[in-house]
Amino acid sequence: MTIAYDPPSLDGETLDALLYDHLNHWGPSEGFYLEHVMSAATVLDIGCGTGTILRRARGEGHDGRLCGLDPDPAMLDQARASHAAEWLLAAAAEAPWNGEFDLAIMSGNAFQCLLDDRVTRESLTAVRRALTDGGRFVFDTRNPAATAWRTWNSGHPFEFVDPLGEPMRVHQKASEPDEHGVVTLETYFSASYWDRPLKASCGLRFIGPDHLDRHLDAAGFAVQQRYGAFDKTAFDPEASGSIITVATAL
Ligand SMILES: C[S@@+](CC[C@H](N)C(=O)[O-])C[C@H]1O[C@@H](n2cnc3c(N)ncnc32)[C@H](O)[C@@H]1O
Repeated sequence: MTIAYDPPSLDGETLDALLYDHLNHWGPSEGFYLEHVMSAATVLDIGCGTGTILRRARGEGHDGRLCGLDPDPAMLDQARASHAAEWLLAAAAEAPWNGEFDLAIMSGNAFQCLLDDRVTRESLTAVRRALTDGGRFVFDTRNPAATAWRTWNSGHPFEFVDPLGEPMRVHQKASEPDEHGVVTLETYFSASYWDRPLKASCGLRFIGPDHLDRHLDAAGFAVQQRYGAFDKTAFDPEASGSIITVATAL
């Protein structure tokens, strides 16, 4: 069943998901991942969201197996409008495959949706299991040293026109990280549909490179390359905004 874009009837999280492609456009991050996808025969996109990268890969002639997984029905519903790939409604830890993919990607900071060490461990174990020996896992997560959450608290609303042509305003509030590194991000949407702003809330976990590498090592991955930006600038632990990792399944 397709979830219709009908703002008066939606909760904040579903609205947020239905506006994802409207507000997030193709950029250097997607280009970086596409390059990896086009050079692999079989690809699993973990936290594929609306399926942007796999849809583009198929459109550009990828002729192998493409599979996307996401636990959010409102995101995956949009991916399912395309037959470019197999789509599965599930979280990373529930990935059911065994040695079937040459490449797994987790783009758009989806890794930050893994909110504690147990979920991170179970997710990485399932990703490793899904890959062939020697397969690659490519993903990004924001570097806590760059304190991105402070910039989300600018207090300046962002204005845009929604898919129905209605002016909409968005502002965000982010907490400081809790003892597990989780920032709570609240997004408020204002438009004539509602008499008060509609709120979407999510957690985003920030973990540093050493913590990340302990998880990768325990799950059977070796870090092959690490970048600090999608132009392949080398990672700088103090200054880079992102931790972009290419890991090999041992
Ligand atoms: C910011 S979106 C990124 C979507 C897509 N990868 C992209 O680059 O546009 C994060 C996605 O991670 C998904 N997600 C949340 N928890 C997850 C989990 N435990 N396992 C896999 N994906 C998850 C969300 O549903 C959401 O679609």
